[in-house]
Amino acid sequence: MEIIIGKTAGFCFGVANAVNKTNKILDENSNVYCLGELVHNKQVTKDLQEKGLNIIENVKSAKKNVIIRSHGWAKNVYEEAQKMQLNIIDLTCPKVLKIHNIAKEYSKKGYYILLIGKKEHPEIIGTISYCGKYSKIIEKQEQINDFFDDFQNTNSDKLLIIAQTTFSLEKYNTIVSLIKEEISKKENIIVEIKNTICDATKSRQNETEKISAIVDAMIIIGGKHSSNTNKLYEIAKENCKKSILIEDSSELNIKEMKQYNKIGIMAGASTPKKSIETVVEILSKM
Ligand code: F3S
Repeated sequence: MEIIIGKTAGFCFGVANAVNKTNKILDENSNVYCLGELVHNKQVTKDLQEKGLNIIENVKSAKKNVIIRSHGWAKNVYEEAQKMQLNIIDLTCPKVLKIHNIAKEYSKKGYYILLIGKKEHPEIIGTISYCGKYSKIIEKQEQINDFFDDFQNTNSDKLLIIAQTTFSLEKYNTIVSLIKEEISKKENIIVEIKNTICDATKSRQNETEKISAIVDAMIIIGGKHSSNTNKLYEIAKENCKKSILIEDSSELNIKEMKQYNKIGIMAGASTPKKSIETVVEILSKM
């Protein structure tokens, strides 16, 4: 059996930084809180909880030290933590912080901001809080008309388009080109487009596309509620019908895997090396 492992599989820079620093903080401190899971991965979450990390749903439950995970926080949560005089440990990925700064700058300049991403994703909840009142989130091309209605109602003549760092590059390109086409029919509208999809996401999606096109089966390893992992699974499925999404090796169907000659492996940005290595080890023994 031939196994092809994606070079970009596993922790991205932002997640590695957040996990390493949190481990260090837990070694040196007690009373460490994190609003939501640090990363969308069961194993990583369990390991950190065992080390003493308290995962909370509301910042009001935090005491002493509170971590901002790589997705970043919304402005009001940050203000609340400051009011509570918590020690805020900011592990927001620098690429997400850059988007917050772009949003602040353009909102100040009077731009209407269109944010392409998943409304309920923590990163988007954070970013939209810096976009000002003239802004909208969309994630599907079917929502473009709603955006144009809103844009027109606000009488805006300046538009900025930005995206979630882990959004699908293909979907982003389709939405942006449809908007550009529609805008070109209108006069005097200034449009700024900043593709803020992170490079790590782009490379991972491109590599998934390439590998899934040449294998008999494709295994995507990562959290089932991880946005970037789910996108990899969607991409893989388009090229390879025998694509599966698993959180860890316990979900591998060994009998089924034995039928294939060539298996591809890719993992989401929050999947630890250990989870990838275990899957590879099991397959190598077949
Ligand atoms: Fe940061 Fe990109 Fe990872 S935005 S958290 S390096 S996917």
